[in-house]
Amino acid sequence: MAKQITVTDLFKMKKEGQKIAALTAYDYPFAKIVDESGIHMILVGDSLGMVVQGETSTLPVTMDDMIYHTRIVSKGVEQAMVIGDMPFMSYQISVEEAVFNAGRFLKETGATAVKLEGGASVSHLIKAITSASIPVQAHIGLTPQSVHQMGGFKVQRDEDRLLKDAHEVEAAGAFSVVLEGIPSDISKKITKALSIPTIGIGAGPDCDGQILVLHDLLGLYDRHRPKFVKQYVDLGKAARDGIKAYVSEVQEGKFPAKEHSY
Ligand code: KIV
Repeated sequence: MAKQITVTDLFKMKKEGQKIAALTAYDYPFAKIVDESGIHMILVGDSLGMVVQGETSTLPVTMDDMIYHTRIVSKGVEQAMVIGDMPFMSYQISVEEAVFNAGRFLKETGATAVKLEGGASVSHLIKAITSASIPVQAHIGLTPQSVHQMGGFKVQRDEDRLLKDAHEVEAAGAFSVVLEGIPSDISKKITKALSIPTIGIGAGPDCDGQILVLHDLLGLYDRHRPKFVKQYVDLGKAARDGIKAYVSEVQEGKFPAKEHSY
C-alpha cells in the first residue's frame, strides 16, 4: 500500500517549490479515481451542499452529512491526504464544540486533518484544535459560509486584512491555508510571506498549490460557473449520451441482448 501524504510532505513540497494539486471529492468511486490520478490532497468540501445536494449555498450542510461523505471518501483513498471540511455552525459556537466536531472527523472518518473558514477571528479555534493534535487547514478570502455577510460570492481585495488573516492563521498553528477569490498579486505576497503552503482557488498562479471543485472540473455542475473554473472534461454530456442510448435500446427491445441474458 502506498504511503499516505502527511503535513510534513506538504511542508517539504513548499520548500522544494513542488506544486501541490488538490481536488474535492464526495464519494467512494470518485475519491478512488482522484487518488489514482496522483492528487496530493482531497478535500471533502462542504461545497457538497451545492454540487451534490442541490442547495444554493453551503449553509445547510450538517456535521452528519460531512461525517458520512468523509467516511466514504476515505475508503477510496490510499495516497492523498484526506481533509474534512467543518460545516457552518460546527465550530463558530464555542471552542469546546469546535474541538469536539474536529475530533469527530479523525475518530469517525479516516480523515487526517480538518478545514475551517476564517482568518484572525477564528485563530483561537485553530489554536485549540491543533492543541488537540488535529491538523487544521485555514481558508481565507472569499469564504462561502459568510456569503450573506459578504453580500454574495465576491472577490476579496482588502490586502491589509488578507495579510493579517494569513499571518494569524499561521501563528495559530494551521498547516496550510486555502486562498479563495483573491487577486493574484495579493496571493503572491501571502505565499511569499508564509512558511505554510497556500492552496489557491481563484487566487492566481503563484500559490503553492491549486484546488478545484471536482464537479466543476468534470462538467457535472452547471448552475454557477465562476471565472476561475476550468472544465477539463464533459462527463455530464457523456452520461446523458449513455443514458439516452440505454433508454432508446430498452424502448426498441435491443437491450438486454442475448449476451446479457441467462
Ligand atoms: O467546500 C469546498 O469545496 C471548498 C473548496 C472550494 C476550497 O472549501
